[in-house]
Amino acid sequence: MMKKLVYLFAMAAISVFAANCSSSRSAATATSGSEMSSSDKVAEIKKNFSDDQLAEGKTIFESKCNKCHGLKDPATRTVEKLEKVLPSMFRKSNLSDEQGALVRAYLLSKAKLS
Ligand code: HEC
Repeated sequence: MMKKLVYLFAMAAISVFAANCSSSRSAATATSGSEMSSSDKVAEIKKNFSDDQLAEGKTIFESKCNKCHGLKDPATRTVEKLEKVLPSMFRKSNLSDEQGALVRAYLLSKAKLS
């Protein structure tokens, strides 16, 4: 009986802890959403993605993104423009979330800030 109470208490403590943890995580996600400036987004990408990952994003881009139109040069497009159009392009190309994240990182790292 006692053991069970201790267990319940521990579970309650863990869920309170987990709730705190996830609420601060969603606060962080909120700031990394659309309110983030283009330069913040690019800085975040350069911090979170290695050169190898960016190169992998380039490879996926070059193999998947020329089926319907030519490869769109990110250097002549703004971060804002790309952010708007990429989610639908990833769906059109059937990219996994992980592949999409790599392609987005590569393209945004080359894009114009404004
Ligand atoms: C199934 C066909 C198809 C595939 C695959 C596709 N696109 Fe597109 N793309 C389009 C069409 C159609 C448009 C124009 C209309 C629109 O915005 O949906 C477009 C527009 C765009 C634009 C905006 C116009 C411009 O010139 O800036 C960008 C950027 C773009 N695509 C990038 C990509 C990238 C990156 C990929 C690979 C992840 C991709 N596309 C894969 C069909 C496709």
